[in-house]
Amino acid sequence: MSMPRRASAASFTAFGPGKVILLGEHAVVYGEPALAGPLHRGVRAVGVPSRRCELSIPSSVTGSHRRLITSAFRRAARATGQPRVRVSLQSDLPIAMGLGSSAALSVACARVLLEASGRSSSADEVAKVALQMERVFHGTPSGVDHSTSAHARLIHFRGAVGKRAASIRSVASPRPLKLLVALVGERGPTHRLVSALRARERRWPRRYRRLFAELGRLADEGARAVATGDLETLGDLMNVNQGFLSALQLSSPPVEQMVHRLRRAGALGAKLTGAGGSGGAVIGLFLEPEPVVARLGREGIPCFGSQLAGPQAL
Ligand code: PMV
Repeated sequence: MSMPRRASAASFTAFGPGKVILLGEHAVVYGEPALAGPLHRGVRAVGVPSRRCELSIPSSVTGSHRRLITSAFRRAARATGQPRVRVSLQSDLPIAMGLGSSAALSVACARVLLEASGRSSSADEVAKVALQMERVFHGTPSGVDHSTSAHARLIHFRGAVGKRAASIRSVASPRPLKLLVALVGERGPTHRLVSALRARERRWPRRYRRLFAELGRLADEGARAVATGDLETLGDLMNVNQGFLSALQLSSPPVEQMVHRLRRAGALGAKLTGAGGSGGAVIGLFLEPEPVVARLGREGIPCFGSQLAGPQAL
C-alpha cells in the first residue's frame, strides 16, 4: 500500500482571476505586444482529498462546454502526475464574453493540481500547466489570457514567435487604474473571430500586418502611460485601439453604442475587450467608475467595476 501524498492530507483552494485586455487584442496573436490586467472576479477551485484525480463540474454545465472542460482538466491532471484530489469550481465571471473565463478556470485548476502534487506553484509553473488547458479550449491562444491570470498583475505581454521567447513584464501603476466592465449581448467563440481575421490577413498581409504593428505600438505606449500615471493618455490609446478594432471588423453596433455611452458618461477611454464581434465585454476607463456602475445598473445594463492596478488593487 502506498503512503498518502502530502496532498491528500489537506484541502487546497486557488483563485484564477479573469482578465481584460486594455490594448492589443488580436494583434497579440501575430506576435505584437498587448497590455492586460486581472479582474477581481474569476474562478475559485477547491481541491479535497480523493481516491483519484477528478473534477466535479456543476450539472448546469452541459454539452460541448462540459466535454471541453473535462478534456482540458485531464490534460492538466496528466501534466501534474494525477494527484489524488477532487477539484470543484465556483465562478463569478461571465462565460465567453472576453473576460478570460477559460484562462481563469485553467489557472485555478492548475494551481490546485500543482499544490496537491507537492510541486512548485509559482506563476510560471501555473502558467505552463494552464496553457495545456487553454490549448484544449482555444487551439492556439496567444497566451495573454492565462499569463495575466497566472501572474495576477497588469502585464505587458508578448508571445513567443519563432525563436523569440515570450516576454512578460509587470507594469506598476502609481494611480488606481479603475474600469467599468459592461456586458452587451452574445458573441461568437474566440477561435471563430480569430480565424476570420486570419483569413483577411492571409489575403492582404501587408496592410493587416501594418495595422497589427501599430496596435503593438499602442500597447507599448500604454505601458509607459500607466507607469507614469498618465491615465488620460491611456484612455486616448484605448479609444484609438477601438478605432482599429472597428477597422478590422471586430466591432459591431451594440459594442459601438456601449463604447459611446461610456465615453458620454465620462470615460477617459472605452473599447471592446477580448475577441469582440457581435457583443461581449466593453470596458471604460474611469477615475471613479462606481457612480456610473450604479447608474447603468439601475438602467438594467449588466456591469461591474474593477481595479486592475495601482494602490489597493486586487
Ligand atoms: O475573448 P477572449 O477572452 O477569448 O480573448 C481573446 C484574445 C485574442 O487576442 C483575440 C486571442 C488570443 O489568443 O490572444
